[in-house]
Amino acid sequence: MDLKIKGNSAIVTASSSGLGKAAAAALVKEGVNVVINGRDQQKLDSALKELNELNGGRVISCQGDITKKEDIKRLVKTAVDNFGRLDHLVTSAGGPPAKSFLETTEADWYDSYELLVMSVVRLIKESVEFLKKDGGGTIVNIT
Ligand SMILES: NC(=O)c1ccc[n+]([C@@H]2O[C@H](COP(=O)([O-])OP(=O)(O)OC[C@H]3O[C@@H](n4cnc5c(N)ncnc54)[C@H](OP(=O)(O)O)[C@@H]3O)[C@@H](O)[C@H]2O)c1
Repeated sequence: MDLKIKGNSAIVTASSSGLGKAAAAALVKEGVNVVINGRDQQKLDSALKELNELNGGRVISCQGDITKKEDIKRLVKTAVDNFGRLDHLVTSAGGPPAKSFLETTEADWYDSYELLVMSVVRLIKESVEFLKKDGGGTIVNIT
């Protein structure tokens, strides 16, 4: 399918495996230049290699934790500095560690809120100026 987004630029967060990596792969196959992200550098390197082998859009990685404001700023800057524009933001977040309700602590709930809600708020606020500049942009939130 040709979505007519070849040459666009995208950020996909939490994308060194799972849903985020699948979303990044779909964009790369459409010829979109993508910044992928995750905390573990080794996992990120391996995903980068795999996505580059698709021979689609350019792929670069930006190691960072999306619960940290400064890492979000660096992620958006990496996309704009390297690709010169930003058209698509896909906010995947990995998941909080799976456990049963009764095993959860209050801290687990606050950590999950930072990961699943505040990361999205901060990513959108940081990106929106660039998404708008080139004529609109899209935001997809996976949670
Ligand atoms: N896969 C499915 O088909 C599916 C279906 C339904 C529901 N889910 C749920 O969806 C959630 C995500 O699933 P998944 O399959 O995508 O999980 P996954 O394969 O474990 O991938 C999680 C990704 O998020 C990254 N990540 C986690 N925390 C991060 C953080 N703070 N900052 C930056 N990156 C972070 C991980 O890399 P690092 O650890 O290196 O940071 C990894 O790249 C889970 O809660 C899962 O239960 C998944």
